[in-house]
Amino acid sequence: GTTLGQSAAERGRYFGAAIAAGRMSDSTYLGIFNREFNSVTAENEMKWDATEPNQGQFSYANGDRIVNHAISRGMKVRGHALLWHAQQPGWAQNMSGQSLRNAAINHVTRVASYYRGKIHSWDVVNEAFADDGRGSRRDSNLQRTGNDWIEAAFRAARSADPGAKLCYNDYNTDSINAKSTGVYNMVRDFKARGVPIDCVGFQSHFGTTIPSDYRANLQRFADLGVDVQITELDIEQGSNQANAYRQVVEACLAVSRCTGITVWGIRDTDSWRGGANPLLFDGSGNKKAAYTATLNAL
Ligand code: XIL
Repeated sequence: GTTLGQSAAERGRYFGAAIAAGRMSDSTYLGIFNREFNSVTAENEMKWDATEPNQGQFSYANGDRIVNHAISRGMKVRGHALLWHAQQPGWAQNMSGQSLRNAAINHVTRVASYYRGKIHSWDVVNEAFADDGRGSRRDSNLQRTGNDWIEAAFRAARSADPGAKLCYNDYNTDSINAKSTGVYNMVRDFKARGVPIDCVGFQSHFGTTIPSDYRANLQRFADLGVDVQITELDIEQGSNQANAYRQVVEACLAVSRCTGITVWGIRDTDSWRGGANPLLFDGSGNKKAAYTATLNAL
């Protein structure tokens, strides 16, 4: 193929990008997105603070801009994210206990119901594990409502949108380490007990190199009976960037249940990672060497 999305499709995968509703009026930005990608993630517009700014008052205009644009062009949509310790509205940050649990599950139900039928995969829960080297759950207001908050969220999401694949998504889980093993044990337990989970997202915010056991880690999750997706890929600029992007594509293609790759932005100047220049297009929208390496690896 001649674009990332077309080439990925020929391999039975999607190739997506995170976009921001506020940049969609930039014709260079939207032109690259429309030309190259066949899946989208809203960078911020479907998070809790954006979709329920006041308790019980839902706000979908910015999410809809992205979702409707993508669907009208036949693209897939990754829903991101129903529950997360970050980017919560102030009212939820100040809640705890059963009232927070009820509010969180209501949020899952309402947002997943609103978008029912439009979402390929939902990040139901984002970043719930700690970086403590022991594979523990992250402490958060949600975790303090009880260890079963994650499975409660997945069950509510399945009821609300039975057609969406339901994912757990995290960072620093890209290699075989204590944190990824904590997630692995949770997924194995969910599969054993019939808690609905279909996929695991690996954010893949990388420095200049890719973990040597990246493919093996994706494969061990796939072997649990879930799809795996690379959900927020960006790789710090350096002499190895093109090679590293190629290695990511090769790792996904080597795992039959790796169903797609999403980069976390379009141009380097759109990236959340300041001066890292971690994306596939430069600030003027020109294809970088990393783009060519990615396309050629697909
Ligand atoms: C980031 C966005 O890119 C920024 O615009 C925002 O200010 C903070 O969040 N992990 C995630 C994403 O799951 O939602 C985060 O996105 C990046 C880290």
